Amino acid sequence: MRIDKLLANMGYGTRKEVKGLLKTGNVRVNEEPVSSPKLHVNPEKDQVTVYGETVDYREFIYLMMNKPAGLVSATEDASEETVIEILQPEDLVFNPFPVGRLDKDTEGLLLITNDGQLAHRLTSPKKDVGKTYFAVIEGEVTENDKEKFLHGVTLDDGYVTKPAELSILSSGPVSEIELIITEGKFHQVKRMFEAVDKKVTYLKRLKMGNLGLDHDLHPGEYRELSDEELHYLKELTNL
Ligand code: URA
Repeated sequence: MRIDKLLANMGYGTRKEVKGLLKTGNVRVNEEPVSSPKLHVNPEKDQVTVYGETVDYREFIYLMMNKPAGLVSATEDASEETVIEILQPEDLVFNPFPVGRLDKDTEGLLLITNDGQLAHRLTSPKKDVGKTYFAVIEGEVTENDKEKFLHGVTLDDGYVTKPAELSILSSGPVSEIELIITEGKFHQVKRMFEAVDKKVTYLKRLKMGNLGLDHDLHPGEYRELSDEELHYLKELTNL
């Protein structure tokens, strides 16, 4: 990879700015000052420093966020604050984006990455990756609803949902449930409950496959995935 591309990818400025930086003589490859933007480096092997600081190059970033209510899951939005806007500058340089969407009022597990292939596979309905949600429901959730969800319910646009696993945690005028779905239609969980005449009043995603939300993350906090978690996701999606 060219040194100017590597440095630009790592947030040291545009290609033009990086060219200027190289001219200052403060970029070294294996301790030798370099000035040519065309120089090829091997990010795995060569040691690159800028002002004496080692550049820890990597292509991809994988973050787990506990999405807070009130932010939209998008990279940009004309009127609303996005989950990307609360990331630190050192993470923003990777141009990450959210994997799939959670509604503005939904909380919980949101993956943020710049690995398009992984993101695509995690959200593809073909892959059948189960997403587990916790929800508070206005209305009494019954064994009958459980059966209906298992066989598929018809949403307001006529779409029949794939089998979904409903667990009733508590049932009464207000119920608490967990639901595992393998698809991600627009407002899917809310619309599934509307299909059985009930209303979701709180929604939080707990898991994608077996990757669970880190309960130490408060809403709005995030961290990088551990090697183990990333390995699990790659296996899950056959990458
Ligand atoms: N289903 C919904 O209705 N909303 C979400 O944010 C996620 C799933």
